[in-house]
Amino acid sequence: MNAPLADAELTALAAQPHTAPLALQARGLGFGYAPGASVFSGIDLDIHAQEIVCLLGGSGCGKSSLLRTLAGLQQPSQGQVEFLGAALTQPHPRAAVVFQQASLLPWLSVWHNVAFGLDFKHQPALDTASLRQRVDQAIEAVGLQGKQGLRPAQLSGGMAQRVALARALARQPQLLLADEPFSALDAITRAEMQELLVELVQRWHTAALLVTHDIDEAILVADRIVLMGRSGPHAGHIVREWKVEIAHPRVEATVAVTALRLEILAALRSLHGAAEARPVTTPDVSCPR
Ligand SMILES: Nc1ncnc2c1ncn2[C@@H]1O[C@H](COP(=O)(O)OP(=O)(O)OP(=O)(O)O)[C@@H](O)[C@H]1O
Ligand SMILES: [Mg+2]
Repeated sequence: MNAPLADAELTALAAQPHTAPLALQARGLGFGYAPGASVFSGIDLDIHAQEIVCLLGGSGCGKSSLLRTLAGLQQPSQGQVEFLGAALTQPHPRAAVVFQQASLLPWLSVWHNVAFGLDFKHQPALDTASLRQRVDQAIEAVGLQGKQGLRPAQLSGGMAQRVALARALARQPQLLLADEPFSALDAITRAEMQELLVELVQRWHTAALLVTHDIDEAILVADRIVLMGRSGPHAGHIVREWKVEIAHPRVEATVAVTALRLEILAALRSLHGAAEARPVTTPDVSCPR
């Protein structure tokens, strides 16, 4: 494993344009909140530029804990995370996190909430013109032009989540880590945000990990779906993985989407049912376009 980067190196890296095909690599990753108590272990995960990986799993299986560890917000008890080829031991300016709640600062406008995303350790200082350009570009990318002056209290849930996304995009992330970012939204807004995520990842060449417990959401946006087990021998392990090769835009009622949904459902039932005790070693399943 490479040594952690010094502050100056991290700052220089944060200023680089998008280059890395492999954005994130986790090997043998394990974590527990107390000594000897493991939430997840043995996690191997790669995420490439322009790839959306969806992490699916039952409530409490450790999805958020894994995401926070991959974000450098907490240290693994085993294994390591590499981001852009270097050991990740702390939050990185080019790895942005979006949570279920937008968590906007209520006294700041939309524009200044987005700009706040650039007020980050190791983020290279920007001159006023560059800062304005970054923030305007991020606001435009999420479709909030004309709303820059509004305060969070004046926004709908969907608009607030767009601001949270723009705040992350302003950092020009090479990795976007999102923890159930759309789960509090109504169905139509949620579908719009899912489409927006796919479009942004393509346009900004970002690697993305989306945590969700919604199978449909995973199928509609993911290039790859990984399933985390919750109990028995599978607890805290990635037990299955599907490569989703269905062209965008994806429609819920198509045969390919329905077939994959049934397959994932069957895997979940088998994990949570009588077959829980059996080890699962299923190879990747590719779905036809
Ligand atoms: N800060 C914490 N301190 C101690 N235990 C925690 C903490 N956060 C989570 N846990 C425990 O770790 C386990 C995994 O929690 P985590 O939040 O990662 O699951 P999750 O898969 O994200 O669940 P959900 O789908 O409900 O969001 C749970 O048993 C939880 O109680
Ligand atoms: Mg969670």
